[in-house]
Amino acid sequence: MSYQQKFSVWRGDSDGGDFVEYDVEVNEGEVVLDVVHRLQATEAPDLAVRWNCKAGKCGSCSAEINGRPRLMCMTRMSTLPQDTTVSITPMRTFPVIRDLVTDVSFNYEKAREVRAFVPPADLAPGEYRMQQVDVERSQEFRKCIECFLCQNTCHVVRDHEENKLAFSGPRFLMRVAELDMHPLDAAEDQEGLNRKAAAQDEHGLGYCNITKCCTEVCPEHIKITDNALIPLKERVVDLKFDPMFIRRRKRKSKEKEQVSEEG
Ligand code: SF4
Ligand code: SF4
Ligand code: FES
Repeated sequence: MSYQQKFSVWRGDSDGGDFVEYDVEVNEGEVVLDVVHRLQATEAPDLAVRWNCKAGKCGSCSAEINGRPRLMCMTRMSTLPQDTTVSITPMRTFPVIRDLVTDVSFNYEKAREVRAFVPPADLAPGEYRMQQVDVERSQEFRKCIECFLCQNTCHVVRDHEENKLAFSGPRFLMRVAELDMHPLDAAEDQEGLNRKAAAQDEHGLGYCNITKCCTEVCPEHIKITDNALIPLKERVVDLKFDPMFIRRRKRKSKEKEQVSEEG
C-alpha cells in the first residue's frame, strides 16, 4: 500500500535556513531514511544527509523526527501519523554543516579526554581473568553505536552551549563508569588516576541531574542513567568520605607544594 505524506525538512547551513515542504510517496515497510532517499532521487538531489548502514548499527543517521531524536533508518513510517506533516530536523545540540548533517566533533574531543584502559603491568596479555558478572556489566555499555543521540538530548548541553567545555555528556560519562568498574584497569595504581575523581572534576558528572532523557532516546536501549551514571555518582559520594583517598589527596597536594617551593 502506498500513500502521499507531507514532510517539512530543515534546509540550510551554518548561516541559517528554514523548513521546506515536500509531498512524498511512502510505501509499506519503509523507514524515514527511505523517504529521504526518495526525496534526493526526485525533488531535492542536493539534500545533505549522513548515513551508512541503514541497519541501526553505524550511528550516522541521527536526526530529530517530529522533534524526537531518533535514527532515521530505524524509524518506521508506520509509527508516524499520516494526517499531519512529519518534520525532519538536524540534531539541535551540534552545529549544522548542511541540511540534516551536523558537526559532531564535540563528541570526538570529549572521547579523547577519557584516559584509555590501563593494562595491569604484572599480567601478560592472555593472563587477564575477570568474573563473568564484570564482563556482562560492561558489555551493556559496549553496545553503544556512537549515534550521539544521548549527547544531543541531554539538556545540560542542549540548552546551554556554555556547559560544553565542562561537561562530557552521558556517552562519555558512561565510558568513564565502565572503566571505573573494570576490575583490571590499573589507572589508579600505576598512573595515579582516580576515575571517580576524574568523572567529577574533569568530566562534569555533577551537572547530571539524572533526568534519564539520555536513556529514553538510546536506540541500543542501554540503561545509561540507571546502570552507569547513578552508580558512578554513588561511588563519587563514597569517595568523598573515603579516609584513604582523602589522605592520598592531601599527600599529593603536599608533594606538589614542595615541588613548586623547590622550583
Ligand atoms: S540523566 Fe544526566 S546525562 Fe542523561 S540526559 Fe539527564 S542530565 Fe543528561
Ligand atoms: S549510549 Fe546510546 S544514545 Fe548514546 S551514543 Fe551510544 S548508542 Fe547512541
Ligand atoms: S544508517 Fe547506520 S544507523 Fe542509520
